[in-house]
Amino acid sequence: MRQIGFLKHLKGHTCLNTGGYGATALNMKRDPLKLNSVENEFPLTLGRDVSGVVMECGLSVSYFKPGDEVWAAIPPWKQGTLSEFVVASGNEVSFKPKCLSHTEAAALPYVGLTAWSAINKVGGLNQKNCGGKRVLILGASGGVGTFAVQLVKAWGAHVTAVCSNDASALMKELGADEVIDYKSGNLEEQLKTLPLFDFILDNVGGSTEKWALDLLKKWSGATYVTLVTPFLINVDRLGVADGMLRTGITISSKTVKHLCKGVHYRWAFFMPSGPCLDEIAELVDSGKIQPVIDQVFSFSEVPKAFLKLEGGHARGKTVINVINKK
Ligand SMILES: NC(=O)c1ccc[n+]([C@@H]2O[C@H](COP(=O)([O-])OP(=O)(O)OC[C@H]3O[C@@H](n4cnc5c(N)ncnc54)[C@H](OP(=O)(O)O)[C@@H]3O)[C@@H](O)[C@H]2O)c1
Repeated sequence: MRQIGFLKHLKGHTCLNTGGYGATALNMKRDPLKLNSVENEFPLTLGRDVSGVVMECGLSVSYFKPGDEVWAAIPPWKQGTLSEFVVASGNEVSFKPKCLSHTEAAALPYVGLTAWSAINKVGGLNQKNCGGKRVLILGASGGVGTFAVQLVKAWGAHVTAVCSNDASALMKELGADEVIDYKSGNLEEQLKTLPLFDFILDNVGGSTEKWALDLLKKWSGATYVTLVTPFLINVDRLGVADGMLRTGITISSKTVKHLCKGVHYRWAFFMPSGPCLDEIAELVDSGKIQPVIDQVFSFSEVPKAFLKLEGGHARGKTVINVINKK
C-alpha cells in the first residue's frame, strides 16, 4: 500500500512560491484551522521534485521498502524537497526510471505531472485517442513545455511548438513537427496560416487567451487548456472566500462563452500522483521522454539557482544536487 514514507532526498529542483506567491491559499491548505501562528510557518523549505532512496517506511506501507530508488513531486502545501530528508505520502511516490541518474530524474516529476494533468486529466488526450491530432504548445521551451511536446509526440500527435528562435533546434530534437518563433512577427497571424488545431496547451497566458481559442476546430471537441490561471493571485489579493468566488465566476463565464462558440476552455493545475509518475517512468524507460536540464547547481548555490529561475528564459529544468552523488 502506498502510504507515508521517509525518503532520503538526493536531488531536488525548486520552482514555486518565490516572493510569497500563493501564500494565502497554500497556508489555508497547510493549516486550515490556523493552529500555527504566522511565525511558526518558517523556515519554509522550498522545492517540489525529489529523486532519492527510501530510508524508512510507515507501518502500513508495503509497496515500497528501504533502499528503493524513487521519485516524487511533493504538493505545494507541504514542506519542500531542498533538504537531505523528505517526508512523502506513499501515493505521491513512484519507482524512479531505471535509465536515469537521480540528477536527471529530479528534472521530471513536477513538470511531468503538471503537463499530465493538463493534457490527460483535464484535456482528455491519451495514448489511444491522440494519434494524428493537431496539438499546439505555447511556451514550449520551458520545463512544462519540453515535457508536453515529448508526451503528445509519444502518443502520436502532430506537434506545433511556439518558442524563441534559439530553442528551435531543441524543439526539433524533442520531436516537434513545426516550430514557430513567437518573436519573429505577429504570432497570431503566423498561426492563422496553419490548419486548425484539436488541442492547445497554453504555458504563457496573458493576451494569448484572447486569440488562441480561434485557432481550434469548432464543434469537434477541440480543447484549450491553460496553466496560467488567476486562482492563487485572486486568493492572495481578495482573501480565501472572495478570491474563490471571483475565480469560480471567471472560469464558469469563460467556459460557457467558449462552449457557445464550439470549443472547450479549461484550467489545469499540478497534481501530485505516484500512479501517474509510474506511467511517466514507463515512457522514460522506453526512450520516449527524456529530461531536459538547463543547469545543475550544488546545494550551496541555491540562491544563485533562484536568481536564474527569476531571470526566466528557461530551457527545460534547473536541478539542485543536494548531496554530491549522481
Ligand atoms: N497551474 C499550475 O499548477 C502550474 C504548474 C506549473 C507551472 N505553471 C505555469 O505554467 C507556465 C510554464 O511553466 P514552466 O515551469 O514551463 O515555466 P518556465 O520553465 O519558466 O518556461 C517558460 C518558457 O516560456 C518561454 N516563453 C516566455 N514567453 C513566451 C511567449 N510569449 N511565447 C512562447 N514562449 C514563451 C520562455 O523562454 P523565452 O522567454 O526565452 O522565450 C521559457 O522557456 C508558467 O506560467 C507557470 O507559472 C502552472
